[in-house]
Amino acid sequence: MKVLITGGMGFIGSNLVMRLLEHEPNLKLVNLDKLTYAGNPQNLAPIADDPRYEFVQGDIADRDLVSSLFEMHEFQYVLNLAAESMVDRSIEDSEVFVRSNVTGTQVLLDQVRRFPGTRMVQVSTDEVYGSLGPSGEFNEDSPLAPNNPYSATKTAADLLCRAYHNTYGVEVCVTRCSNNYGPRQFPEKLIPKFIAWALQDRRLPVFGDGLHVRDWLFVDDHCDAITAVMTKGEPGRVYNIGGGTEMPNLTLVRLLLERLGKPESLIEFVPDRPGHDRRYAVNHERIATELGWNPQVRFEDGIRRTIDWYLDNQAWLDAIADGSYQQQ
Ligand SMILES: NC(=O)c1ccc[n+]([C@@H]2O[C@H](COP(=O)([O-])OP(=O)(O)OC[C@H]3O[C@@H](n4cnc5c(N)ncnc54)[C@H](O)[C@@H]3O)[C@@H](O)[C@H]2O)c1
Repeated sequence: MKVLITGGMGFIGSNLVMRLLEHEPNLKLVNLDKLTYAGNPQNLAPIADDPRYEFVQGDIADRDLVSSLFEMHEFQYVLNLAAESMVDRSIEDSEVFVRSNVTGTQVLLDQVRRFPGTRMVQVSTDEVYGSLGPSGEFNEDSPLAPNNPYSATKTAADLLCRAYHNTYGVEVCVTRCSNNYGPRQFPEKLIPKFIAWALQDRRLPVFGDGLHVRDWLFVDDHCDAITAVMTKGEPGRVYNIGGGTEMPNLTLVRLLLERLGKPESLIEFVPDRPGHDRRYAVNHERIATELGWNPQVRFEDGIRRTIDWYLDNQAWLDAIADGSYQQQ
């Protein structure tokens, strides 16, 4: 099995690389990653010398590089996880989001089109659907209504996938997953950031009233869903992936503080993020009935494993805090 994964040095990508190498003995895996601030070579240090694995530093929007990789390897599968992924950064400046998330996806689609038989999975997000009221769930036919520049670029990429399938017959599936948590998430995102900051007794800034609701999925479950779509998904189809664990942010922050033995007085309410989606909830019935995927990790177990991982890997957090992770 010859697989190109993009963004493999990031949070979900590194977990997926580890999982694929663990479960697929006959694998040739090429990881194309630009090593932005979110790409951390330490994430894959344990498998860097595995003969089935090769790392290429580069940009998915670099047409010549991507084209030469496709010619060299004749990939069976392309898993596109490379993206700028932080909403707050996209609100500051969305230019690189358009290049990596939209142009990058288009460059990959052009190559998949050149090599019939190659199949691609575009790893997208439930954020493309926008915000929900207090009830209801997103299904794959819900209207696309992104509210911030990050989700707008992910939506544009999803629509390119749809168009390349309908126009050229490109074999591409799109997955739209809810919020992930687990080891190796860059500590600008809520869970690792608040663990790291609480350990230093720093104040934890919670947006608005803290009652924004997210649906949490342990990262290994997301990885298994991507693998199921890669091997069994129907080209042209969208698959929602969700954890079924809806929780207001404030409840999650209180739970983290309680597990870390820290006081709730560390919570500090800050002005809400512009365009902040109030609630996400994902209906994953399609992937469950058609591909047999369901989340396996209960939130209680997943969050315990996650907190333990950050507590056991303080050096990983320190290397990010002092910037040394990028020098390796
Ligand atoms: N984290 C979540 O909760 C979540 C939920 C649903 C979907 N997703 C999607 O999953 C994917 C991975 O998310 P993540 O949280 O692991 O992100 P991340 O920010 O942790 O990692 C992104 C990786 O992509 C690389 N990258 C960025 N731009 C690149 C480019 N132009 N060329 C090559 N590499 C590039 C970075 O160096 C990094 O290693 C993203 O597409 C994201 O939209 C994430």
